[in-house]
Amino acid sequence: MKVLVADGVSKKAVNILEKDFDIVVKDKLSAEELLEIIPQYDGIIVRSASKITKEVIAKADNLKVIGRAGVGTDNIDISAATERGIIVLNAPEGNTIAATEHTMAMMLSMSRMIPIANETLQKGEWNRKKYVGVELRGKTLGVIGLGRIGSGVAKRAMSFDMNIIAYDPYLNEERADALGVTIGSLDDVVEKADFITVHMPLTPQTKNMINKDNLGKMKKGVRLINCARGGIINEQDLADAVKSGQVAGAAIDVFTSEPLAEDNPLRNIDNIVLTPHLGASTVEAQIGVAIDASHGVAAALKGEPVSTA
Ligand code: MLT
Repeated sequence: MKVLVADGVSKKAVNILEKDFDIVVKDKLSAEELLEIIPQYDGIIVRSASKITKEVIAKADNLKVIGRAGVGTDNIDISAATERGIIVLNAPEGNTIAATEHTMAMMLSMSRMIPIANETLQKGEWNRKKYVGVELRGKTLGVIGLGRIGSGVAKRAMSFDMNIIAYDPYLNEERADALGVTIGSLDDVVEKADFITVHMPLTPQTKNMINKDNLGKMKKGVRLINCARGGIINEQDLADAVKSGQVAGAAIDVFTSEPLAEDNPLRNIDNIVLTPHLGASTVEAQIGVAIDASHGVAAALKGEPVSTA
């Protein structure tokens, strides 16, 4: 059987799969090329760049399994795959620490304006007065979504002496107590937090969850972080809120359209720190997700039991 390893998935995947399968590696695959070659494959492993759409699935005559080397499956049409009996599995654990640490890095670099201070100093501007930051200590961090990454962020933020208030419809008191966080409604988080970080998948319910209405109800000078999925925070509303001073800063790793569009409203605003979807981009995480996804794909192709996404 033949497996396509796409999107620059770590070579560890090849090492695991090549014992039992024919492997083809294609790091950069256009939508047209994917449509053309997909009928040859029994399995495919992707990150987020390749879009496994309804059209791709309709042409995937031999495909039995799609492995996602990462958590989010929003680039895969799961219902179309399921209709064709194609298994979709992901690797939900390998990049948890990477995404958690990136969130902390984004919160700290935004609070201390490190990217803009670096950029201007590289150009020769020595300006200690302009780049006065804020401390995390004693501030309230609102965590929206207290799953693996959200709870990891909460735990690390506590070591910075932050107070945590969390909104998560699936969170019960017992788990909140065990984590040492206060549970609140979305409105509670919106109204009480000094920093807000989102850790939810993008769904019809979470799309534009943070928008001009609730941005207006936040504390003046709030700071926001999104290392989850583009679109959970409305980009235009956030850009307007930063420009008006209602929001003091934002740190954003994920966008409604990736790669970042030229006319994305979050570009070219001093108090907004942007990174190109780097949450899972550590050496360790990329090896971890490649190993998990390829074991899953191998098991599925051998007819063994697997956990689906
Ligand atoms: C994920 O869903 O795992 C992350 O966003 C990382 C990625 O897309 O590779």
